[in-house]
Amino acid sequence: MAKVRKAVIPAAGLGTRFLPATKAMAKEMLPIVDKPTIQFIVEEALKSGIEDILIVTGKSKRPIEDHFDSNIELESNLKEKGKTGLLKLVEDTTNIGINLFFVRQSYPKGLGDAVLHAKAFVGNEPFVVMLGDDLMDSPVPLTKQLINGHEKTHASNIAVMEVPQEETSKYGIIDPESHVGDNMYSVKKFVEKPDPKEAPSNLAIIGRYLLTPEIFVLLEKQEPGAGGEIQLTDAIDKLNQTQRVFATEFKGQRYDVGDKFGYMKTSIQYGLTHPEVKDRLRDYIKELAGDLTAQDKKTEPKSKK
Ligand code: G1P
Repeated sequence: MAKVRKAVIPAAGLGTRFLPATKAMAKEMLPIVDKPTIQFIVEEALKSGIEDILIVTGKSKRPIEDHFDSNIELESNLKEKGKTGLLKLVEDTTNIGINLFFVRQSYPKGLGDAVLHAKAFVGNEPFVVMLGDDLMDSPVPLTKQLINGHEKTHASNIAVMEVPQEETSKYGIIDPESHVGDNMYSVKKFVEKPDPKEAPSNLAIIGRYLLTPEIFVLLEKQEPGAGGEIQLTDAIDKLNQTQRVFATEFKGQRYDVGDKFGYMKTSIQYGLTHPEVKDRLRDYIKELAGDLTAQDKKTEPKSKK
């Protein structure tokens, strides 16, 4: 059986939810405290045994390439000043121990089209797709969990998680058929962004996919679906009609950094574990909580006697 060695990270999205910050900058470079979100994804790939990553980029995405490249001027400056800690942080982003490749998606035709750009890179092997809007935290990285599942089933394996029913229209949703072992389901149907009233479940696709290469033939023929875009979910649904596609339920912590509030929550959570700022941040949150409670009390309507 072929080892899963390759990952594809689609990063061509326009980042409209973060405008104007993303007018001239890649949303994948927005930092969580001090680390760009895409670096978390690359680190998850590394911890999962991935050897080669293709990043599908677009306009304004050059900083992603630069981030993982060496910066000789900066490095010699830090060396001269004896800032060895910072120097290591900078060098670690270049010597990550994974091969990075880049391809551009010239027109934003949808996630399915972005993944299709990886056809030549992937060849005839199973591979993973990792979306940059979802950061995952769990003892065994989610990508590794999908690979472990694939080693047992030899089939495609899609990560899912329960979401509130009213949010199904933001996600690809599965119609689970039956449990096939720990946290794994066989699936009747994959539906992209269904209305909450029509959603077959509240198990949502959360941005990690293990796919067999047969997906490319289907993506090539895939017609636009939800939002007029070529949807990966629609091609996966077709794949499931010719070979088994399983879903693995994620039990760890997911951070949605593709949305303003999720991004702020993630920054706070990460800050609370960051050695440089965690104590001051904790004190500040407590202080703020006290102030807000006092404010709320002042504005509460007085009860009538
Ligand atoms: C994409 C996928 C969707 C999936 C989601 C996870 O949607 O199309 O199936 O549930 O990512 O984050 P997007 O967020 O790009 O609209």
